[in-house]
Order: sequence, then C-alpha cells, then structure tokens
Amino acid sequence: MNYEMMFKRKSFRRFNPELSLTSEELVSVESYLLHMTRFLSDDQSLQYKIVQREQTTCKRGEYCILIYSEQSRLALMNLGYVIEQLDFYLASLGIGACWYGMGKVESMHRHEGLPFSIMLAIGKAEPQAFRKDYKKAKRKSDEELWEGEAIYGIDGMTCVSYIKYAPSTCNSQPWYFKADKNQLTVHIKPKEKMLVPKEKRPFYNYIDLGIQLICLETWFDHHGFNYERRIMEESNQFWVKYLYSRF
Ligand SMILES: Cc1cc2nc3c(=O)[nH]c(=O)nc-3n(C[C@H](O)[C@H](O)[C@H](O)COP(=O)(O)O)c2cc1C
Repeated sequence: MNYEMMFKRKSFRRFNPELSLTSEELVSVESYLLHMTRFLSDDQSLQYKIVQREQTTCKRGEYCILIYSEQSRLALMNLGYVIEQLDFYLASLGIGACWYGMGKVESMHRHEGLPFSIMLAIGKAEPQAFRKDYKKAKRKSDEELWEGEAIYGIDGMTCVSYIKYAPSTCNSQPWYFKADKNQLTVHIKPKEKMLVPKEKRPFYNYIDLGIQLICLETWFDHHGFNYERRIMEESNQFWVKYLYSRF
C-alpha cells in the first residue's frame, strides 16, 4: 500500500468544504495512529490528538492531527518516519492531508507529558484531487541529490528518481545520498535560503530526514532489497547508513 501511496499523496492546501470525514473514517485514523505509536521505545514515544481545525491556527481542512514528541533530533527523525506512514494511509482512505509546520495550538501545548511538535491538516477529498502524475511535482535533479553508483529497481529506474518525491518542509529536500558498493548513506544537506528561522531549521531537517527514510525503505521493500539500517552520529549530527543487497 505504501508504495502506491508515495505517488498518490500530495500536500492538500484546498479542501472541499462540502465533504467531511465519516465517523468510521475517523475511527480508522485513530486506530492507525494507536497502532503506529504503541511500538515505539520510551525515548522516542509519540502522542497525538485529533481536534477540529478551529481549535488551531490552521485555516484549512476539517481536522488537525496534533503530534506530540520529544524534541531531540532522533525523536524528530522518528516522528517523520512514523507520521509519513500516516500520510500514506490517509491517501489510501481518500483523505487529503498536509503537514503543517506553521500551525500553532492555542492550548493543548502538552499531551501525555510530551510537548506539541507539529500538526497535519486533514479533510475528505475527491478521488481526482490526489496526485495523478508524480513526475510533475517540483523536485531537485537526481544529480543534485545523489552521488555514486545508481541503484536500479525492478522496473529499470533508479532509486533516487522515485524517492526524491518524498515531501519536505517548504519543499527544501534537505537530503544527500552517497552510494558505494552495497552501502548507501543518507545525509542532511540543509537548504541555505529558507523561510524557516535559522534556529528552527534542524527541527524540520530531522523530520524531513525521517520522512525520507520511510520513502527509501518503502522503495527497497517494493524492489526486493534486503537492508540493514544504522543510525550514525557525530557531534550531535545524525546520518543514516544502509547496507543493502537484493533478495
Ligand atoms: C515537516 C513539514 C512541514 C510542512 N509545513 C507546511 C506548512 O506549514 N504549510 C504548507 O502549506 N505546507 C507545508 N508542508 C508541505 C510541503 O510544502 C510539501 O511537502 C512540499 O512542498 C512538497 O509538495 P508535496 O507534499 O505536494 O509533494 C510541510 C511539509 C513537511 C514535510
């Protein structure tokens, strides 16, 4: 499911006010979140709340999913990894979503002991409102993102030509991949000019890195690769190393 949804999803900025989520759909979203968040280890736990959009500063969608987490780089990476899967799941239910970093909450700043981190605006969408041709989405060139030998999928296309369609804050795509033999490393390459204040950039870069990792792993799974992931750290900078092979 995730693989198809990587290309169907998009950031919804306009919602049809005449459509609304059914109570069954809301229950499905709640159950999915519960399922996704209960396996995490204590230091990377996530909590969530689904509220009416009017309870936030968000001006779009019907509901907002508020995500609470620790603010460490690893916890933010984990948040991106887990919540991007929710984005895929929402697309599979015909629910439009947009990660909404600008969104604020007036109350509900903490939940179950964790601070508010980010929200997703969601609302029911018409089937035709989803992305039809992912290649039309604006992204960096493969060469800007990838160094070293290309990794090819079962369709003969390169890995980077797909995974670069992962969403990211302000479409900054702060990723850099280096491939060498059976090793692939994924690094953060921050965008120099961004609307986000400088001190807030690592917060978004690490969420974006987590989002990229689930897109990459979804691609690996779909194209028959085995992989082992290692999170690497030096001076509080994280990057990720994959040792991969085909089944
Ligand atoms: C962590 C994060 C925060 C984001 N915050 C906002 C936001 O505040 N407002 C907005 O309109 N889009 C926001 N976006 C959506 C991005 O702009 C969008 O993912 C990017 O432009 C790529 O487009 P696509 O998602 O349609 O593929 C955010 C995305 C991410 C991953």
